[in-house]
Amino acid sequence: MLTTDKFGEVAGHAVTAYTIENRNGVQLTVLDYGATWHALNVPTPDGSHQNLILNTDLAGYAKPDGYFGKAIGRFAGRIGAGQLVLDGQPVAVPANEGTTTLHGGPHGFSTLFFKADAAADHVTFTRTVTPETDGFPGTLDVSVTYTLTAADEVVIDFTGATDQTTVFNPTNHVYWNLNAADDTIENHTLRLAAASHYELEPSKVLTGAVVANADTPYDFREPRQLGPALRELQTIPEAGLDDVFAIDDHAATEPVAVLSQGQRQVTMYSARNAVVVFTSNHFGDELHFLHHQSRPHVGIAMEAQTSAAGLVDPGLTQATLAAGTSRHEQIRYAFTY
Ligand code: GAL
Repeated sequence: MLTTDKFGEVAGHAVTAYTIENRNGVQLTVLDYGATWHALNVPTPDGSHQNLILNTDLAGYAKPDGYFGKAIGRFAGRIGAGQLVLDGQPVAVPANEGTTTLHGGPHGFSTLFFKADAAADHVTFTRTVTPETDGFPGTLDVSVTYTLTAADEVVIDFTGATDQTTVFNPTNHVYWNLNAADDTIENHTLRLAAASHYELEPSKVLTGAVVANADTPYDFREPRQLGPALRELQTIPEAGLDDVFAIDDHAATEPVAVLSQGQRQVTMYSARNAVVVFTSNHFGDELHFLHHQSRPHVGIAMEAQTSAAGLVDPGLTQATLAAGTSRHEQIRYAFTY
């Protein structure tokens, strides 16, 4: 079942919310602004609903770092100055974090308005992103489809088709908080199929070196509660997790991440080689969420993507999309409640 509502207006553009409800009473709400995942409301025993993801209002979504639930592209993560090389030529792209291009730069997917095509169980957002739009080479036709299945899964399908060689490394920046009450994610348990993570420069651009997770706070191969792990990381500048995990080779049926709290659980599937885990470490009063007070560790983002290590080591998997080609990427989240 599909419902369409006026959500508000940003910079003169009307924003529409699309809500899909499945036969179990689960409701998925997405917005055409930023192709944003706005809510995942699951039924509760008392007959009401609980939202499992952090969300905000249009003022919050319009902030430069308002990546909550947004579609991210053309390139999730960080491209350091001079790092992008396409067809053997260095390519400059606009910076939005010092000299770094974060999450597609100042005019990435998260800032754009999409055309929507909604049906009973899915919404497809499309648009053409030109070099004039975001400063990346190539005219890129993008689609982002959110599907809510009868088996309580949200499936996000991203496609990109380009006329000139570019990069296509999309993800979704949804933050989870599975607590029934207003609390942080420190009481959540995380399992991550990652034996290593990437070393970072102080600017958070990858150095190319890989660090083994065994016997470090970064080892989540067995389910571990986040609170104690985050406490071990309080003395580093991040004061928590903000890391690029290298995902182990795995079968498509094997999850890359499992997050749980009580009986609520989200299981993420992806064929990509990396997941950035970010535990909203320095969040404070400057942010406003609809169901949770903003504070450190109020949410956890698990961003499946192609590792930016390919920018440093040409021998690794690349996010390049060659002229005249297209690519499909999928992230699937199964949840119980
Ligand atoms: C993450 C990134 C963080 C922060 C966040 C958005 O992907 O690793 O450093 O920028 O996005 O606020």
